[in-house]
Amino acid sequence: MSATNQRIDAKRLWDSLMSMAEIGATPKGGVRRLTLTEVDRAGRQRFTEWCEALGLQVRVDAIGNMFARREGRDPSRPPVLMGSHLDSQPSGGKFDGALGVIAGLEVMRTLHDLNITTEAPIEVVNWTDEEGSRFGHSLMGSGVWSGVYSQDKAYALKDVDGVAVGEALEAIGYRGPHPARPFKADAYFELHIEQGPILEREAKQIGIVTGAQAQVWYDAVITGQDAHAGTTPPSTRKDALLAAARVIELVDATMRQRGEDGRGTVGFLQVHPNSRNVVPGEVRFSVEFRHPLEAEVEVIAGSFPAAAEAAARANGCSLQLTELFRIPAQPFDQSCVALVRDAAARLGYSAREIVSGAGHDAVYVARHVPTAMIFTPCKDGLSHNEEESILPEEAAAGCQVLFEAVLARANR
Ligand code: GLV
Ligand code: MN
Ligand code: MN
Ligand code: MN
Repeated sequence: MSATNQRIDAKRLWDSLMSMAEIGATPKGGVRRLTLTEVDRAGRQRFTEWCEALGLQVRVDAIGNMFARREGRDPSRPPVLMGSHLDSQPSGGKFDGALGVIAGLEVMRTLHDLNITTEAPIEVVNWTDEEGSRFGHSLMGSGVWSGVYSQDKAYALKDVDGVAVGEALEAIGYRGPHPARPFKADAYFELHIEQGPILEREAKQIGIVTGAQAQVWYDAVITGQDAHAGTTPPSTRKDALLAAARVIELVDATMRQRGEDGRGTVGFLQVHPNSRNVVPGEVRFSVEFRHPLEAEVEVIAGSFPAAAEAAARANGCSLQLTELFRIPAQPFDQSCVALVRDAAARLGYSAREIVSGAGHDAVYVARHVPTAMIFTPCKDGLSHNEEESILPEEAAAGCQVLFEAVLARANR
């Protein structure tokens, strides 16, 4: 089968990406669109207006996930889904998440322009709180939808200011009427920037994502004792920040023992009382590990807690480590991956298979719906950074593959 001669509009796609990037734009050229804030509401609003201008029906579920539907010739057929997320890291880039949602919209716009009615309905999805940076759980909207997190548990999660997810949803008007649980869908396709260096290094236009790596995330609290910085001798100090530093070294060593495929990160840290002349009595921080091989993550999860406790104790402190979640390695659906591979080949794009290093909503959706992802390169492999950058033609190539894969699936 040759590629369709139906082409997405690359300029319109780029203009909409730039328009979305104005919402929460930072001085350094990035985006701060934290989930369930006023800024997120504004992004959702713009997305809704674009969808409604096409006559799509937008519905919102109880965790704020948005589904914009285009009817098929056979409305009783389960829809083909595509999408990603509009929330960002505190100092995020313009494309992490937004590309998959806006490209989904561009697929809808192209179908509209060409007056194409697909056999199955198609829906573009904006999942709530993919990033996890505000409430501590990444993939929250897709996690609740897929039954990994209970809705009540998600509603009760609080940000650093004590605002709960349930309240934040109410405040921005996105605690929707539809139940947040899986409905029957035929397939899910998510386009995303790679967020790593592989495609760029190998000069490939498309990553055919075969699955995503395993992860384990923790909350850590180290308790020592607040004390006077000038009067407390080394022998009696219970310095929680020093103990945290030792645990952070352990995270790094644990990662490096796994070679180049290991990942271990402490990215969030709160020091109490955070005063220059007080020995810190309490430190709260995050820990996460990832590896493409699930067995490696299991080994880490089996040994790290005791080793971290010992490191804290050796520094006169105690450690409370809570495992937040563990995500097994998730292979994607062979038939959906094949549609991505075939589309890239028909379109003449250079492509390679790749395992996702990042977590994506696709990982949880894949538990219920045949799923695949499409990656496009990003400059210097940089993401979760305001300087994250891609070229218009890279976005267009990814969107064209998405269009072809979705169309093939919806018309099969
Ligand atoms: C989400 O962005 C993740 O992979 O941590
Ligand atoms: Mn993302
Ligand atoms: Mn991200
Ligand atoms: Mn992510």
